[in-house]
Amino acid sequence: MSADEMKKAAAAAALEEVRPGMRLGLGTGSTAAWFVRLLAEKVRDGLDVVGVPTSVATERLARELGITVITLDDVAGLDLTIDGADEFDPELNLIKGGGAALLREKIVAADSRRMIVITDESKAVETLGAFPLPIEVVTFGATATVRAIAEAARSVGLAGALAFRRAPDGEKLVTDQGNWLVDASFRQISDPKALAIALSRIPGVVEHGLFIGLASSVIVAGRSGIRRIDRRTT
Ligand code: A5P
Repeated sequence: MSADEMKKAAAAAALEEVRPGMRLGLGTGSTAAWFVRLLAEKVRDGLDVVGVPTSVATERLARELGITVITLDDVAGLDLTIDGADEFDPELNLIKGGGAALLREKIVAADSRRMIVITDESKAVETLGAFPLPIEVVTFGATATVRAIAEAARSVGLAGALAFRRAPDGEKLVTDQGNWLVDASFRQISDPKALAIALSRIPGVVEHGLFIGLASSVIVAGRSGIRRIDRRTT
């Protein structure tokens, strides 16, 4: 299986969890896009679901393919969110935001009864951090916020390069919510919870890409097939 076939296989496995009438969170990225495409086929066959997209890109794709798009304000919570991830660890903690959509992704996941993450084997790590952690910051005072991020990281024993994400034109990338992203190369985040708390205390940080306790399950597609890991609840 190619990497793309693995993404499609993970998306297909997640589709089996979808039931008529569900209100879905629709993730962002190439794996989540496979889910949206496969879901659209079911919708064309008569499946009645609605979806809240986690990015402008996903919204565009869902609408093009005929999926009914709603907002979180239209409903009292979602049944299920299906999204990709940039890394996951054995506790099902995630790094997300490689596709610049972490803020909406986290709001949607937090408002969902269940979140199923769809990935391929390349995203599995023992310790998060090889993938630079995306941190969404307000543009006002962004340099001061970056200094505060460095200080917060130091307080939990971490250091590493902090770089503003760039768009293809070389300018700072602007997220769907009008903020900037700082990618933090911490390499080994041994205590993601402590880092998450430290980052959340910084006024200019809107959100960060550490998803802790949000994923109910991860579906991993590999060369030897599909495996599913469920979060331990005890
Ligand atoms: C989007 O902001 C990210 O959180 C994505 O879920 C992540 O980048 C995964 O993307 P791929 O499925 O393309 O690897």
